[in-house]
Amino acid sequence: MTLADASTNAPGKWWRNAVIYQIYPRSFADGNGDGMGDLKGVEGRLESLSELGIDAIWFSPFMSSPQKDAGYDVSDYTDLDPLFGTLEDFDSVLSKAHDLGLKVIVDLVPNHSSSEHPLFKAALRAGKGSPERSYYHFADGKGEDGELPPNNWQSVFGGPAWTRIDDGQWYLHIFDSSQPDFNWGNPEVEKFFHGVLRFWLDRGADGFRVDVAHALIKEPGLPDVEELSSSMTGSDSDPKDEKAHPHWGQEGVHDIIRGFRKVIDEYDNRAMAAEAWILPLSKMAKWVREDEYHQAFNFEYLATEWEAKRLKEVVDESLFEFGAVGAPSTWVLSNHDVIRHVTRLSYKEIPKQGDGIGPDYPQPDEAKGQRIGRAASAFMLGLPGSSYLYQGEELGLPEHTTLESEYRQDPTFFRTKGERVGRDGCRVPIPWEADSPAFGFSETGKSWLPQPENYRGYSRDRQQGVAGSTLELYKRLLSFRKSNALGDGNLEWIESLCTDSTLAYKNNSVLVVANFGPDSLALPEGEILVTTQHDLSIEGVLEHDQVAWIKL
Ligand code: NOJ
Repeated sequence: MTLADASTNAPGKWWRNAVIYQIYPRSFADGNGDGMGDLKGVEGRLESLSELGIDAIWFSPFMSSPQKDAGYDVSDYTDLDPLFGTLEDFDSVLSKAHDLGLKVIVDLVPNHSSSEHPLFKAALRAGKGSPERSYYHFADGKGEDGELPPNNWQSVFGGPAWTRIDDGQWYLHIFDSSQPDFNWGNPEVEKFFHGVLRFWLDRGADGFRVDVAHALIKEPGLPDVEELSSSMTGSDSDPKDEKAHPHWGQEGVHDIIRGFRKVIDEYDNRAMAAEAWILPLSKMAKWVREDEYHQAFNFEYLATEWEAKRLKEVVDESLFEFGAVGAPSTWVLSNHDVIRHVTRLSYKEIPKQGDGIGPDYPQPDEAKGQRIGRAASAFMLGLPGSSYLYQGEELGLPEHTTLESEYRQDPTFFRTKGERVGRDGCRVPIPWEADSPAFGFSETGKSWLPQPENYRGYSRDRQQGVAGSTLELYKRLLSFRKSNALGDGNLEWIESLCTDSTLAYKNNSVLVVANFGPDSLALPEGEILVTTQHDLSIEGVLEHDQVAWIKL
């Protein structure tokens, strides 16, 4: 393969149709019994993922970190945190994954480091106006004695986005005060990160998921935000509002992406995906132009409720906008920052992104959640493009919604003094064996967040080989997705079956029918490949909140 081939987003590239499974290392499997997941634990459970039928793994950060934001506060980008293991453990899990035919994607956190990173410590030591300070955003404050922050920006996790240091200057942190933002206007920062990319690529990583990819460039002069309503997602602002926010989605980001892309293209067959909460999709699509990211998370899809008309619009818009720049669309329902989709999609008033559900909130209807969650997964996995799964969703795992405050660890909880409970509810260690300590997560029974009792019933061993279980459903979906090449297919709506309460699309030789209810729907003729209905004896009709795949 020539370098030119390697750099295109051409059909046939693995990421265009891949199902990518997110491992949140803290909560997947604990190999040493300390209650915290680790890479040895992952290695021991890797066969279960190849059996599931995924194509790639994305690891949330496992680099050295004080863990103030669960690893998204990195103090050494080229080493592992001892909590998760060693570089040799990484090599070993990578090589086993490759033997099993799985690609491995590493998380890159370029917007900010930990305040424990040597570069930030040097900046603090070196003083005002020094070259060391120019790696980050330091500024004098407003007010007579500089006692007010330099502008009105708010941290995504709550409170001001600036913290004052002893010599009177302030530093910027869009997230926690332990996560100072890099100044990408300093070319040394770019050089540093190119080195980080090469480090993991040389070790054999197949690509990167790039954290807060839309925040790296700040508007010159760091002007005030006009409306203070904006959150991390931008999803509470008008999605049709194209105006760039002073620290989200600035045009200058594209040069940085192109720089990353050049480095990646020095290697064969590697890819990078942007985590960028940018709306609308037409703007998001600019992130995946030919010489930029290979893919971007489709958060507009994630934010869409289980509702026929809107879902159809978002699918059309995604295929159109990403297609227009030659990129595959991606699809995603859950990750470590949002309420797990089986709970979210059935919950009446969905809290804003980044908020969870606490014990005092109205509690979800578990059965309804299972129905809608399974249906939403089956609807998504039939779509052409690449899909992201979050660990535990193949078990139908719901959000932990009764987690007591004393266990909470998300900085959002602390920075808002408990007003927003934060994201811990989707990060709870997953259950493997119903009758083992910590449901098989850890031999000692330790678990960094306590698992709710209802996780027992979702354990993998209770579902393995059980017809109609969510695990077997996912396996069937992934297997038919592959055998019918749905990831590379073309979507065609069956308009006669697209109403306010039903949707149907054809992708290659598979017809996907979804019933949003309330009535049951007579199914078209054909061999049913897979249905989300628990009662597999129901034939010929599709109940509400159910999906069927039919072979044409
Ligand atoms: C997005 C990550 O997914 C989230 O978990 C983290 O808190 C922020 N970026 C800050 O790095």
